[in-house]
Amino acid sequence: MTAGRTADLWWKNAIVYCLDVETFLDGDGDGCGDLRGLIERVDYLAGIGVSCLWLMPFFPSPSRDDGYDITDFYNVDPLLGSLGDFVVFLRTARNRGMRVVIDLVVNHTSDRHPWFRSARASRHSPFRDFYVWRDRPPEEPSAAPVFPDAEKSIWSWDRKARQWYLHHFYAHQPDLNIENPSVRDEIAKIVGFWLELGVDGFRIDAVPFLLEAEGNPGDVPLDPHAFLKHLQAFISRRRGDAVLLGEVNVAPKALRGYFGDTEGDELKMLFNFPVMQAMYLALARQDARPLARSLERLPEIPEDCQWGIFVRNHDELTLDQLGDDERLEVFEAFGPEEDMQLYGRGLRRRLPPMLDGDPQRVRMVYSLLFSLPGTPILFYGEEIGMGENLAVEGRTSVRTPMQWSDEPNAGFSVAKPSRLRRPVVEGRFGPMAINVAEQRRDPQSLLNWMERIIRRRHETPALGWGASRVLASGDHSVFAHRKDWEGTTVVLVHNLASEPRSVRIDVDPPPGHHEVVDLLDQGHAVIAMDAGRLELKLEGYGFRWFRVEEVGGRTTP
Ligand code: NOJ
Repeated sequence: MTAGRTADLWWKNAIVYCLDVETFLDGDGDGCGDLRGLIERVDYLAGIGVSCLWLMPFFPSPSRDDGYDITDFYNVDPLLGSLGDFVVFLRTARNRGMRVVIDLVVNHTSDRHPWFRSARASRHSPFRDFYVWRDRPPEEPSAAPVFPDAEKSIWSWDRKARQWYLHHFYAHQPDLNIENPSVRDEIAKIVGFWLELGVDGFRIDAVPFLLEAEGNPGDVPLDPHAFLKHLQAFISRRRGDAVLLGEVNVAPKALRGYFGDTEGDELKMLFNFPVMQAMYLALARQDARPLARSLERLPEIPEDCQWGIFVRNHDELTLDQLGDDERLEVFEAFGPEEDMQLYGRGLRRRLPPMLDGDPQRVRMVYSLLFSLPGTPILFYGEEIGMGENLAVEGRTSVRTPMQWSDEPNAGFSVAKPSRLRRPVVEGRFGPMAINVAEQRRDPQSLLNWMERIIRRRHETPALGWGASRVLASGDHSVFAHRKDWEGTTVVLVHNLASEPRSVRIDVDPPPGHHEVVDLLDQGHAVIAMDAGRLELKLEGYGFRWFRVEEVGGRTTP
C-alpha cells in the first residue's frame, strides 16, 4: 500500500470534527446557529487541517433531545436553514477538501413524527407496524432505559393507541421496528437521499439498540448482521467510498462482530469506547497500564476498517465499562462534585476543566488522541480548550456556543443574550479567556499547537494505517507504543505523570544502526539509539513522537 492508494479508504486516516450547526455560528442573528454561519467558518476548519466534518442532527425536530428526536428525515430544521443551504455547505466543504458525515438516527423517531402520529391513531394505519407494540409490557424488559433520570422503563403506555410501545431512550422517542421490511426500505431511502445530495457517510446512532429487534408478534425475526451487511452493500452501490461510523458502546469482544466478516462488510468504523474509558482511568492514576491493557484486549479488525478515537463527545463522558471502584477513581480525579456527574456512570465536563486547565497535560492528552490506533475525532471547541457550563442542564453542559472571540455572546451571535438557545460558558474557561480570535494571534496557543500536530499527523500516515504495538518503557507512568507501516516505524511516548521521568524504551528495530528523528520538535532533533534502545528524559506530562531511521539513510522532513 503506497500513500497514493490510501485515498479510497479516506476514513482510515481522517481528522474528523464533530459540530452541532445550532451552536457553531449564528449567521442571521436570531440567537441560533445555522448553516449560513457554518458556511462562513468552513475555511477556519480547513485551516486547522480537519478533513471530515460530522454534523450532529440538523433535521426538523421539537428538540426535546437536542435534535436526536426527528420529525422529518428528508429536510433541514427551518431554524438552521434550508436544503438549499445544506447543498451550498456541502459544496463549500468539498471545495475546501473536506468530507461530510451526518448523523443517521433511525433507532427511533420523535413521537411527533407523522409516522407515529398515524401509528398511534389507528391499529389499521400503514405505519402501525413501524413501531413496536404490546398489549401488556413484558414482565422482565430486555433492557433498562438509557436515561434513568427521566424514564422508569423502556415500555410506555400510549393512551391513543391503547397499547404499550417500546423506547430505549426517552418516552418521546418511540423505537422503530426494523423487523418490518417497510421500515428497512425507508431507512435505505433516507440514506439514499442524503448520499444523492453528496454526503460521504453516516454516524449511525445507537447501533446496538437499533439492531436489538423486539418486533411485533408475527414479524419474521431479523438477523441484525444481515441488516448491516445489506445497508453497507446498498451504500457501496450508491457511493463506493461512503463510510458507516457506528456508535456501539459495548465490551471489546462484542465489538468485532459489528465490523462484519473477515473483509469487514458491515460498519467501517466504530467509536472506541473501551479505550477511551481506559485512557481516563490511566490519566486519573497517572499509570499507563489500564490503557496498555485495553489496547491489548482489542480484537484485530479488518484492514479496510478503523477505530474512531475520541477524548470527548457531545454526551456525558461515559465510564460504564469500568469497574465500580475504577469509575469512582475517575470521578474523584476529574469530577468529584455531584453536579459534574450524570446517571451514575459519566461526567458532564469537557477535558480542560477536568485537568484544571494544565496546558501541558491537555496537550499530552490530545497527543494521545492523535497517536492511538484509529482516526481521531474532535468535538467542536476542543481545538481551543473550551470548558463546560454546569448551569446548563444534563448532557447539554458541553454543547454551549462556540467561542469565537471575546465579544458579546463569544462572537457566536449578535442576538440579545436572552435569545441564545443556550448560554455561553462563564468564568475561567469562558470567551474572555478562551476564544479563537486571540489564539490565532498567539503562536504558543493550543489552537496553533493543534494545527501543527494535525499537520504532522497528516504527514505521518503510519499513525492511521500502521499496526500498533505497546512497548515496554520500564516505568508504569510512561506509555510507549510503535506503529509500523510500509517500512516506516514511528514511536510514540507519553508521560502520564506530573513528575519528570527517565526511560529506556526497547524499540526493537530491524538489525542495523538506527536513530530516531523527533517529529514534534521543530529543530528535528536526532537521537542515537544504543542496541535498539531509546533513552529519554521526559518532563512532567511530556510526550514525543519519533520516526525510526537507519543511520545514513534518506532523511525525510
Ligand atoms: C446517542 C446520542 O449520542 C445521544 O445524544 C442521543 O440522546 C441518543 N443516542 C438518542 O438518540
